[in-house]
Amino acid sequence: MNRSPDLRVTLGPLEMKNPVMTASGTFGYGCEFESLVDLNLLGGIVVKGLSLKPMAGNPVPRIAETPAGMLNAIGLANIGVNEFIEKKLPWLRGIDTSVIVNIYGHSTDEYEDLAKAFKGVEGVAALEVNISCPNVEMGGMVFGKDPALSARVTERVVKNTDKPVIVKLTPNVTDIGALARAVEESGADIISLINTLTGMAIDIERRRPKLANVSGGLSGPAIKPVALYQVWQAVNSVKIPVIGIGGIIDYRDALEFLIAGAKAVQVGTANFVNPRATMDIIEGLKGYCIEKGIDDINRIIGSLNI
Ligand SMILES: Cc1cc2nc3c(=O)[nH]c(=O)nc-3n(C[C@H](O)[C@H](O)[C@H](O)COP(=O)(O)O)c2cc1C
Repeated sequence: MNRSPDLRVTLGPLEMKNPVMTASGTFGYGCEFESLVDLNLLGGIVVKGLSLKPMAGNPVPRIAETPAGMLNAIGLANIGVNEFIEKKLPWLRGIDTSVIVNIYGHSTDEYEDLAKAFKGVEGVAALEVNISCPNVEMGGMVFGKDPALSARVTERVVKNTDKPVIVKLTPNVTDIGALARAVEESGADIISLINTLTGMAIDIERRRPKLANVSGGLSGPAIKPVALYQVWQAVNSVKIPVIGIGGIIDYRDALEFLIAGAKAVQVGTANFVNPRATMDIIEGLKGYCIEKGIDDINRIIGSLNI
């Protein structure tokens, strides 16, 4: 079979031309990658996490390289929701891809206000609710670690939006299934996971933490097996679609998540190493389907034999 395989995927109310998306915080607002990537070929772009007011983020250094990964404690530096809608979104509307807005609040009220800010706003395919950031003092992972709080945030966002709602889970918990079920029961349309794993690194000459924030979020290939296992557990815990994230570098990594049952994947840290990683992954998925005689990528999703 040499015909181009069908890569389209449907995640509840969200349809995408292929299952390859960029992960929040690793692809700016999309425009930064315009000269490097044909953005129209992407399944989806998830923009940097937005808060109600602009945030400067944490003091530097806020990035440290680790074996097979990196630690970051950016602290959600972002331009704020109003500037995004005014200055970034009009340009993003011209791109033929699903633009997904990642939101972050310091309280349940703020999550509700962020959802309202995008009500009726065109060119936003879905909201991704970050309840899993390890690098900010208030909120973030505080919500995401507790199924009851996660449920409350989800409910408030779902009630106040006209967009599909993706809830992004933290891996820093003992029972990912319980969290996944809590947000599903509260009305989430889709779950995405994982966000970064909390970690730290020390400079032995100065005997100081390598990050000014002391701890940070670990991402990259180092976290892939953990991510894959948690995605598989989530897939087996809920009926709503799951997006797999964590350490995806090439199409083989993406395939592992799809075979485990993720309906789409997000590519994060890989963009820093190879800005065209997403393009290579899309081509690789096509090639794999052709080689195996598979005409529709959906035949691969959840095809794990145990
Ligand atoms: C520098 C950096 C910034 C990030 N910023 C955000 C963010 O604003 N919101 C969010 O939900 N996740 C954020 N993440 C988490 C990623 O979206 C992703 O979940 C995580 O890095 C795991 O995927 P990866 O191993 O492919 O990078 C960030 C990650 C990195 C490395």
